[in-house]
Amino acid sequence: MSIVDLRSDTVTRPTPAMREAMMSAPLGDDVFGEDPTVNALEARLAALFGMEAALFCPSGTMTNQIAINVYSRPGDEVLCEEGAHVYRYEGGGMMANSGCSVKHLPADRGRFTADDVHSAVNDRAAAYLASTRLVVIENTVNRGGGAIWDIREARRVREACEAHGLALHLDGARLFNAMAVDGTAPRHWGTLFHSISICLSKGLGAPVGSVLIGTAPFIHQARRVRKRFGGGMRQAGILAAAGLYALDHHVARLLDDHLRAKRIGEAIASRPWCVRLMPVDTNIVIYDIDHEAAAHVRALEAHGIRCFAIGPRQVRMVTHLDITDDGVERAIHALNSL
Ligand SMILES: Cc1ncc(COP(=O)(O)O)c(C=O)c1O
Repeated sequence: MSIVDLRSDTVTRPTPAMREAMMSAPLGDDVFGEDPTVNALEARLAALFGMEAALFCPSGTMTNQIAINVYSRPGDEVLCEEGAHVYRYEGGGMMANSGCSVKHLPADRGRFTADDVHSAVNDRAAAYLASTRLVVIENTVNRGGGAIWDIREARRVREACEAHGLALHLDGARLFNAMAVDGTAPRHWGTLFHSISICLSKGLGAPVGSVLIGTAPFIHQARRVRKRFGGGMRQAGILAAAGLYALDHHVARLLDDHLRAKRIGEAIASRPWCVRLMPVDTNIVIYDIDHEAAAHVRALEAHGIRCFAIGPRQVRMVTHLDITDDGVERAIHALNSL
């Protein structure tokens, strides 16, 4: 029985055409700045977002952690929401790599407001308070069931950051999923943030890699920190080629993933054991059930359907490049049999 793997959009395998692009990529030593394919990917994303420079990194964790490290000094404070990937799923990196403390902002499916930022910033004059330095927004919001930020609120958050002298970083691991739905363009986001992290290895279906985008001086610093964190790669163009291929071929199809996620969500919502389904806005389906999530995951696994327990009674499914309509039908069939 073949497996329908809905645990994450990171499980995709490169397509034959993507592999071909990887195999034929011109290469060089990227630590020397000599890999033409890496340079092309960085230049392309910087131009797309209307920003000055970019840096190819092994992971989204590394792009986020580098940004935090560049902006902060030990003892500084970062504002984000409680479920934010930078806080929850990066191994305590903000604290361990950069010595930052964290203040959580109240949020609706991961989305906070400019007012929340205004109220959270510490008084600079008070020597006993941590210096609030940075705000991190995540779009789409992973733990928020793929929720999309309203760009108007993001703009107000930027104004709040200006008012308090804070940096604003976007964890845009799935920003292309958000833009596919709300019709915003990369340049709209590029003007709002001091830095943006884009993952190529999620919805875009590349095997490895994320790109950090920002001003030239910021990326210059980020390059130093990448090396310090052990992320300087040599003939990395073989990986960057997959990213370039994904930008050409895997952006327009993201809406297919969203439609498939919606169909799965509808099937879940109709089941008696479903207590709550978060609105399905993009490719992530999160739902609460009336029994143990681990048992639910095991029951679906018996049908060849893989998903994740993300809480004692909460489950996540994610659609992606390797999930076909047939896979969706199989998942729905399995859900209907529970
Ligand atoms: C919102 C978000 N940010 C960052 C990351 C980190 O990406 P990586 O797994 O490449 O470190 C992920 C990974 O799933 C994510 O969902």
